[in-house]
Amino acid sequence: MNLPISQRLLACCNFVCKGDRVADIGCDHGYLGIHLLTNGIASHMIESDVAPGPLESARRNAKKYGVESAMTFCLSDGVRDIPRDFDTLVCAGMGGDTMVHILSGAPWLKNAQYRLVLQCQSKTPMLRRYLSENGWGITEEQVLKEGKFLYTVMEVYYEPGYPRLSAGEWYFPPALLENPSDKVPAYFAWVKKGLEITLSHQEDEEKQAALEYLNALAADPNLSFLTEV
Ligand SMILES: C[S@@+](CC[C@H](N)C(=O)[O-])C[C@H]1O[C@@H](n2cnc3c(N)ncnc32)[C@H](O)[C@@H]1O
Repeated sequence: MNLPISQRLLACCNFVCKGDRVADIGCDHGYLGIHLLTNGIASHMIESDVAPGPLESARRNAKKYGVESAMTFCLSDGVRDIPRDFDTLVCAGMGGDTMVHILSGAPWLKNAQYRLVLQCQSKTPMLRRYLSENGWGITEEQVLKEGKFLYTVMEVYYEPGYPRLSAGEWYFPPALLENPSDKVPAYFAWVKKGLEITLSHQEDEEKQAALEYLNALAADPNLSFLTEV
């Protein structure tokens, strides 16, 4: 029985280590957890969602694929009502603002024992900024393509000594600059284009922020290559 899991979720699975106990926050259909269990990667899954419908769908699918007994199901806003005995937390397919809401409600997650795997659908610079200003370090980041959209998936640890990101790096983080993948320049060009489009809009507040970011980019010596993309 083939699991209809997306390339995006498979990219998240690549960050999970064999034997990990994994919490999938916003699990929806549960495909990530089912893949990790049926392939012998995770040893246990916490399947969590804020809405009963998606959680029920995860439970139904888990039963269908015979992995229900290795899962704990939790109805929870973020990590508020989930057990804390896991190694890796995956949060995928949400906006950066929702992820900030989830992380800021859980100071106990600020512990180097947890690995966070975050795959953001929108407002990614906002998420990077929040992580950097709150003691988390992005240790690895990869670009992935789904349909015509480019996303990233990041591995994050709580590490207060980690260098703070500059404003330019909220958009173009060092973890990507160090990544040799041929998808990275396309992602940077896409982000830069997004900022330029915002700059051409009428809304003053957004326009001002985009201008600030583009200026920050231009002034950042690590990002001088952007003038060519
Ligand atoms: C677009 S789906 C993504 C599902 C899956 N993670 C993926 O990437 O394919 C977003 C899921 O996150 C859940 N969600 C949204 N806000 C949440 C929150 N604060 N806490 C837990 N789950 C949340 C939604 O109910 C929905 O099932």
